[in-house]
Amino acid sequence: MPFEPGEWAPLGPAPGMVYSRFPKHRRGETGVPAAPVIDVTDLTKRFGDLLAVDRVSFALAPGEILGLLGANGAGKTTTLQLVLGLTAPTSGRIRVLGMDIEKKRRAVLQRVNFSSAYISLPTNLTAWENLLVFSRLYGLRRARAKILGLLERFEIPHVLNRVVGSLSSGQITRLNLCKALLNDPEVLFLDEPTASLDPDIAEKVRCTLLDIQHERHLSIIWTSHNMQEITNLCDRVIFLARGRVVLEGGPQEILDRTRADSLDEVFISVARSGNLHLPAVEATAPASAGIP
Ligand SMILES: Nc1ncnc2c1ncn2[C@@H]1O[C@H](COP(=O)(O)OP(=O)(O)OP(=O)(O)O)[C@@H](O)[C@H]1O
Ligand SMILES: [Mg+2]
Repeated sequence: MPFEPGEWAPLGPAPGMVYSRFPKHRRGETGVPAAPVIDVTDLTKRFGDLLAVDRVSFALAPGEILGLLGANGAGKTTTLQLVLGLTAPTSGRIRVLGMDIEKKRRAVLQRVNFSSAYISLPTNLTAWENLLVFSRLYGLRRARAKILGLLERFEIPHVLNRVVGSLSSGQITRLNLCKALLNDPEVLFLDEPTASLDPDIAEKVRCTLLDIQHERHLSIIWTSHNMQEITNLCDRVIFLARGRVVLEGGPQEILDRTRADSLDEVFISVARSGNLHLPAVEATAPASAGIP
């Protein structure tokens, strides 16, 4: 896919510009409130004395990109792992695509996928072998064409026959993204998908992911410490602090509400105080952060 510089929303967009390339699915624009693809209620995860996730509630609308934000250790990755059924909750309810993750994990995992900068693929297998293993797990018919197409799309066709252990971290990140898209997921969990990418490749990857999201009306939960990326990409964000939801809303809405100049400012306030202490904020997060 040819990459055209500046194709996705520019940095520091004026209100209304951010989503101009991607016609919205959201309730206000379609007038149709859609059933959430993810519905999480009072989700709690305790590791010994530590409450990593503390009564978190949120929903993800079809085709929505939701940013999950918060300081190191705030509970983002644990939340994603819970929603994927990779770890069991201490309490709470998780429904994905209308199914209870604890009862229908297998069926859910056929229709969702995830990518993490920090989960490694087997290093002694080549990129091709890795993707072939996953293709077989998903029962893909035209695995070869799918794999080659994805590697091409993320501009790493040359790594096909190289063992993963010999790849750069940026190449592994993109290979992970190819893995995450093999089964044409309806819901994608991206845990810091651009963390190890140089600014040029990061922009191309954002653009490619947005193209795919738009083509397939994909629903995405996206974590990142890059607030500009979040501002530009996400329809809505949730800030976690010490496992709790402390702020939720559209990026511009949050800036309007807090009168902060940037999400970086909001992030730092939340990270340092465990809550939001910007002068203009009247109230912190809603107890339940559902679809707006
Ligand atoms: N398996 C585990 N056993 C014990 N504690 C854990 C485990 N996994 C995570 N934690 C703890 O839970 C808390 C939340 O961790 P989590 O990885 O969800 O944070 P995060 O928001 O993803 O942070 P980061 O931005 O650094 O990726 C941290 O205090 C972490 O040390
Ligand atoms: Mg994490």
